[in-house]
Amino acid sequence: MASRVIAIDGPAGSGKSTTAKAVAARLDLAHIDSGSLYRAVTLAGLDAGVPLEGDLLVEVAGAKRVELREGEDGLRPVVAGVDVSKEVRSARVTEHVSAVSALPAVRTWVTDALRRAVARHPRGAVADGRDIGTVVFPDAVLKIFLTAAIAERARRRALEEGSELAPERLQRLAGDMERRDTMDSTRAISPLKEAVDAVRIDTTNLTFDEQVEAVVERAKPYFSAA
Ligand code: DC
Repeated sequence: MASRVIAIDGPAGSGKSTTAKAVAARLDLAHIDSGSLYRAVTLAGLDAGVPLEGDLLVEVAGAKRVELREGEDGLRPVVAGVDVSKEVRSARVTEHVSAVSALPAVRTWVTDALRRAVARHPRGAVADGRDIGTVVFPDAVLKIFLTAAIAERARRRALEEGSELAPERLQRLAGDMERRDTMDSTRAISPLKEAVDAVRIDTTNLTFDEQVEAVVERAKPYFSAA
């Protein structure tokens, strides 16, 4: 049987997580932000002061019980029982997470954790990331690949951070995102790649509501609205 999952993949700043969260709320599904789990493993490794190597990180992730746990507002990344939703967004974690997510042992560990998280939600889930439709849930009932022009992605990220929309700041954000995209798309294992059976949605000229609606419309045949 196909997994009761809507897979939303795409590059940094394409609006995957915010869209996935809104779609999940509309359809009464769990929202699983896979990037937050890669970030939580990175944070646990940095705090433990271990070299960022696959086997060591998986050991730390197990010892510190890194997980996605149900909180008031959906699933939250947790390390050693503490909600680390804020910490995983820090510059320190963002700087190292691409390298950590390229480690095969870490990818296997996170993939297993994501599958277990979905299994706990019988109604289904919206999972977002880079390899959800290609590797984690290749049998997802619906696969979406979100894209947006780099300048628009940088503008959205700046708004999200509450930082100024000054041209230099936007240029720097765009440069950082492009570097991360290149790392995520060219790594040997599970690179960011559009699944052959994914629906591609370019959100450059869509409002947030339009982009959520575009996914919900396509999901309706599989999940009745809440
Ligand atoms: O979506 P994000 O920025 O929170 O993701 C953080 C990093 O994790 C990003 O550099 C790519 C990686 N990632 C991944 O490799 N595979 C996923 N399914 C999700 C995220």
